[in-house]
Amino acid sequence: MATPFYITTPIYYVNARPHLGHAYTTISADVIRRYHEMVTDETYFLTGTDEHGDKVMRAAKNENLTPREYVDKISSLFKNLWPELHISNDQFIRTTDKNHILVVKKILQQIYDTGDIYYSEYEGQYCFGCERFYTDRELVNGKCPDHETKPEIIKEANYFFRMGKYQEWLIDHIQKHPDFIRPERYKNEVLSFLKEPLDDLCISRPKSRITWGITLPFDENYVTYVWFDALLNYISGLGYPDGELYTKYWPVSQHIIAKDILKPHGIYWPTMLKAAGIPIFKHLNVHGYWNVDQSKMSKSLGNVIDPLELKNVYGLDAFRYFLLREMAFGLDSSFNEEALVSRLNSDLANDLGNLFSRVLAMAHKYFGGEVPDFDTDTEKDFDLGLEAHAGKAIAAYQEHMPQFAFHKALVAVWEFIGELNKYIDVTTPWVLAKNKTQRKQLETVIYNLLEGLRVISGLIYPVMPQTAEAMQKHLGIPPDKTFFKIQGLKKWKTLKPKTQLPKSISLFPRVEATTGTPASGPTRNEKAPPSGKPEITIDHFTDLDLRVGTITHCEPVPRAKKLLKLEVDIGEKRTIVSGIAESYTPDDLLGKQVIIIANLKPAKLMGVKSEGMILAAVDGEKVVVATLDHTVAPGTKVS
Ligand code: MSP
Repeated sequence: MATPFYITTPIYYVNARPHLGHAYTTISADVIRRYHEMVTDETYFLTGTDEHGDKVMRAAKNENLTPREYVDKISSLFKNLWPELHISNDQFIRTTDKNHILVVKKILQQIYDTGDIYYSEYEGQYCFGCERFYTDRELVNGKCPDHETKPEIIKEANYFFRMGKYQEWLIDHIQKHPDFIRPERYKNEVLSFLKEPLDDLCISRPKSRITWGITLPFDENYVTYVWFDALLNYISGLGYPDGELYTKYWPVSQHIIAKDILKPHGIYWPTMLKAAGIPIFKHLNVHGYWNVDQSKMSKSLGNVIDPLELKNVYGLDAFRYFLLREMAFGLDSSFNEEALVSRLNSDLANDLGNLFSRVLAMAHKYFGGEVPDFDTDTEKDFDLGLEAHAGKAIAAYQEHMPQFAFHKALVAVWEFIGELNKYIDVTTPWVLAKNKTQRKQLETVIYNLLEGLRVISGLIYPVMPQTAEAMQKHLGIPPDKTFFKIQGLKKWKTLKPKTQLPKSISLFPRVEATTGTPASGPTRNEKAPPSGKPEITIDHFTDLDLRVGTITHCEPVPRAKKLLKLEVDIGEKRTIVSGIAESYTPDDLLGKQVIIIANLKPAKLMGVKSEGMILAAVDGEKVVVATLDHTVAPGTKVS
């Protein structure tokens, strides 16, 4: 039976535009939601915007808009961004929604009626940026730690929530549920905060100062403090108190936040729920901060990263993968575009992309694009632990994903990708293909590789849904969401022999930083851009005569382990000697269309005159010849 799973993100302030940090949290929520769908949970995913308060009022004023016009404008930036990043939220809540306002008033009244909200005069140090009072203990050198400004002394009569009353209960709850706040470092942070006496929380703001907020149900002259209003979105969005969604999903609720808002979520929120007689949430999942080149992302530093820009340059799935793989959930990470390019080229283009195109190319070359049958006898010799490696990867993945340890889950998937790449090197399908008596072995090897790719395509689905679907299509699996279910992935040998596979595609073209253009350079694990070569003008480039050539004949060069002698048709016949014998057999190359530099000065290699050069990627020991997507006439110019 399906188990419910409920995930929320913070609702974002509308006083700033969405950036990389917001994107990371929301993509993480999307990934965990997709993962839970894979294990057949019924899921609900809530995100939205936090729209009341002084900050918003001031931001609206700066833009000469009314608060309502302003919040509509910025909220829609968030709302419209999420589909572009393939975020699959079920609901987008706004704290200006009618139903949310009703719920806030209801809970306030409930707590007021129990006596846990009281009225009192208070003089304190108030930070306008944070919209809250600070105690001496919380200030750093007398300044607000977030805004680095000196708070102002304000004397005001206000309403207070008896938060201190729940201190012992909260400590006890955290200790009895060690993974209530995770990772552990944040649990410890909250516990250490709770070692000091917990003050009551001021939950109102006088209308003489702020009008943009939810009026207290028991005093017209005050609006609700933004945090007391905002946190309640997590239940108002589910239709508290008697909505069906509330009944089903609240008991399994999980929040994702970053460390900046640990205190409101780790202390205010559970005590508010307790005071209102509502069961508290199950887990608070806290991640670290994205900095940019080691500095805090900020408007004033001008280093705010726009997620859409990155998506447009590098592709959405690559961007999602990078964020989840690069950040160890819970720790800070520093964003750097070169690191993104490097990961994209090594993990995606080299490890996964190459594996996928190599295997599919072999399926086309040796079996006319059909999934081969596997031979049960040969299987014993040719499994080489592959099925066990798949099982190990799935088990590690299932251990890490529910803990939000996305980076570890992805490491496990990439270890399996590494095993598949090794499997090719060990079984050498191109050698098997040469010998007719080894046809069964070849079938089994290619079948196993396709099966491995099927498992990979399922495991990457939560992080890279588009790529997973593209792989699925090219593995001949009918488009069907159940394909991604973990149960199905665990079963080995589910691809149907004789299924016709579409021609392969390139999953991830190599890229260079900022331009997003295909690269010619970096090899596996090398930092990009790698060239160190002088910049050239277009004139230098157009001096090259690049042509498409069809390989019509190929043979080894005697006594030269690395060299092959090729005859290439480029509209005229050329002989080319190429150092690719350790990566290709003559059979592999026959009939292939390659790109050659046709105006290279001829040179003699091992006594053979070479009249050109073939373009190839040199990937460590491996050489991969550049080929074309479609066949064209020999001699066609490449520009
Ligand atoms: N409105 C409150 C949240 C109320 S929830 C009931 C708020 N909004 S916010 O716009 O400031 O969003 C803060 C959240 O945005 C962080 O907790 C995190 O999820 C995300 N991030 C914003 N900047 C970030 C980074 N630089 N790095 C990672 N995530 C960050 O607080």
